[in-house]
Amino acid sequence: MDRAHNFCAGPATLPLPVLEKVQQELTNYRGKGASILEMSHRSKEYTEINNQAVSRLKNLLGAGNEWDVLFLQGGASSQFMQVPQNFLSPDRTADYINTGTWSDNAIREAIIFGNVHIPFSSKNEDYTRIPKNSELKLSENPHYVHFTSNNTIYGTQFPSEPDADAPLVCDASSDFLSRPLDLDKYGLIYAGAQKNLGPAGVTIVLIKKSFAETQAENNIPTILDYKTHMKKIFNTPPVFAVYMVNYVLEWLEKSGGIEYFRSLNQKKSKKLYTELDSDDFYRGTVQKESRSKMNVTFRLHNEQLEERFLSQANQNGLLALKGHRSVGGVRASIYNACPMESVDALIDFMKAFRKGNG
Ligand SMILES: Cc1ncc(COP(=O)(O)O)c(C=O)c1O
Repeated sequence: MDRAHNFCAGPATLPLPVLEKVQQELTNYRGKGASILEMSHRSKEYTEINNQAVSRLKNLLGAGNEWDVLFLQGGASSQFMQVPQNFLSPDRTADYINTGTWSDNAIREAIIFGNVHIPFSSKNEDYTRIPKNSELKLSENPHYVHFTSNNTIYGTQFPSEPDADAPLVCDASSDFLSRPLDLDKYGLIYAGAQKNLGPAGVTIVLIKKSFAETQAENNIPTILDYKTHMKKIFNTPPVFAVYMVNYVLEWLEKSGGIEYFRSLNQKKSKKLYTELDSDDFYRGTVQKESRSKMNVTFRLHNEQLEERFLSQANQNGLLALKGHRSVGGVRASIYNACPMESVDALIDFMKAFRKGNG
């Protein structure tokens, strides 16, 4: 069966070898006579999967013993609440850099628990850019500084970690494992798996043990307390999603690790942006220095032309290029598992469409 070129922002395309492996093992996991979907999360098989996924993730990122990896549920949106519930209080302040809808949503949850200072916002500029470090007006003594490394909707991305004296807390949902991280700067990193890491249903949380020790004195329900999950697998995890994440991590390792993907993602996005910039038929929506290597957003001259572009793209096997419903336009999501061939196919289509409609 031919697979289309899939540019979905999430749940996003997955590596074909992973899907095939899962298909092959689905009804009978490694000769056990049962599917992984039908086994206890306390079984030897699942314990092995969990441990392997944790160690692969740590190896890929170069994370040492000072980090714990948790596989939680509730999506990145739950982390908007869980982070401040664990670390913020009325006598503490956290700084939240506002570079998009997801940052804004995180801020809305944080103010329930404590003081939030906003050191920079591009809200009044339609979120078309990422701040320079010199523009960050950080508060005096923030407990942490929260940022969204890649803004999936707008197509902007921090080129590197923002400068701060406090631990960084990052929503890395849409660029996690697409490039190396300077882990010393972070206290906590979270990401919904469904873009760069696996299927929907599991949220990855990397938490530094020393940061966990700075928990606020809040009344935290057991399941929402990070320490509960750091001690042991507390309740039934999303076993199938973790099982698939483990195979995606294996595929990342075998393909060449994070450095390989950083370089590939750079090449893919550069090709697409070069095409966008070749004349004004396609127009990038954000400032050039802030452009994302994961979500390439652009517009055509009018909405009618965009409709035609999207519908013809779809007929040509280029899926899910429609921009987020809140902003419209076109968005090509080119995460790790989106191969160069898909980017080339999109560029060929863009050239042909321009020729036919220019
Ligand atoms: C950067 C970012 N943060 C958070 C979310 C929300 O994630 P979830 O649907 O897993 O709650 C998304 C979803 O697209 C996202 O792109």
